[in-house]
Amino acid sequence: MKEQLLEEFERVFGGTEDCRVFFAPGRVNLIGEHTDYNGGHVFPCALTIGTYGVARKNGMDTCRFYSMNFSNQGVKAVNLDELVYDREEYNWANYPMGVISMLNENEVRVDEGIDLLIFGNIPNASGLSSSASLEVLTAFACRELFGFEMSLQDIALLSQKAENKFIGVNCGIMDQFAIAMGKKDNAIFLDTATLKYEYAPIKLKDAKIVITCSNKKRGLGDSKYNERRSECEDALEAIRTVKNINSLGELSESEFEEVKSVIGDETKIRRAKHAVYENMRTVRAVTALKDGDIETFGKLMNDSHLSLQKDYEVTGIELDTIVETSWKVPGVIGARMTGAGFGGCTVAIVKNENVDEYIKTVGDTYLAKIGYAADFYTVEIGNGPTEL
Ligand code: GLA
Repeated sequence: MKEQLLEEFERVFGGTEDCRVFFAPGRVNLIGEHTDYNGGHVFPCALTIGTYGVARKNGMDTCRFYSMNFSNQGVKAVNLDELVYDREEYNWANYPMGVISMLNENEVRVDEGIDLLIFGNIPNASGLSSSASLEVLTAFACRELFGFEMSLQDIALLSQKAENKFIGVNCGIMDQFAIAMGKKDNAIFLDTATLKYEYAPIKLKDAKIVITCSNKKRGLGDSKYNERRSECEDALEAIRTVKNINSLGELSESEFEEVKSVIGDETKIRRAKHAVYENMRTVRAVTALKDGDIETFGKLMNDSHLSLQKDYEVTGIELDTIVETSWKVPGVIGARMTGAGFGGCTVAIVKNENVDEYIKTVGDTYLAKIGYAADFYTVEIGNGPTEL
């Protein structure tokens, strides 16, 4: 892999002296969806698929970006003084641009241009965080090239800031945190209100994590994402008139039931209900996992999907078809949509001996109903960013 990347770098930019090769993973969230911007818990893990980057300082005041995944777009060059979001002009390169811009916002860290060649093997716009992976990769590569101090947790926070302020998606901290802090064979139980976290070993012995990509691109998803977020903020504001809390994540189910009527709007009640119940489900799921009770963990995954379908309304026919079909296949311990929703992927825990049957049954049903194929990935849990 490294050789191929360097060869391509040489072809695109010329020379490979001083080049360094980095990798940052993608992530899948096992449970705890749309809780991270509500001060709740999440339980994601880093994957062994992700984003590779070859980087060097180039001695100019211009950064040059090239992606092997979007080779038709050629090299994107931008002056360090002109790092301004432009969807059309810079496209995917807005992500590394955003990170460099944030690094330089307070103190100049990246004071010389870089050449950056990217190759990713995470399916794009699939909900496996290809964008957060690219952000963390860029921040990590800059730290290594320019030799400044920055913890992996701060890399996560900076990357989230790039997404919020530069790209304009009001995402929570889950994706960037899961990627920057990833640990092989472990999921991360993160309290997004305090950033306290704990690694939990995922020992599935006789089962595998199977991701199904719906191939429905998110498109409008980002604006819907911000809409859900502000619905939750409105609900919180209403509850705060009767109860002193900082986030929906502070409420138990019964506390929520007591105060929910003050929200007024029926839709917003359901949005807030999801945030509160999903947070509690996540806490219970991790306890079950620690107790070796994978069946309960799987059941909570299924409940999570139903809540995202009925109360949060971020699933859609594609994800519902995959998940509802999954539930009928023998050996499926649990299945749900993962990530923001509105398309993207599902995650299932499937007994080893049923994986082939799972892929065939879900694949055939999906194709027949939706009209195009889904893709399947049997994934491993990997580490955070690294230099190769
Ligand atoms: C996206 C966001 C995350 C999180 C999930 C939903 O992946 O980037 O911060 O909100 O959606 O759980």
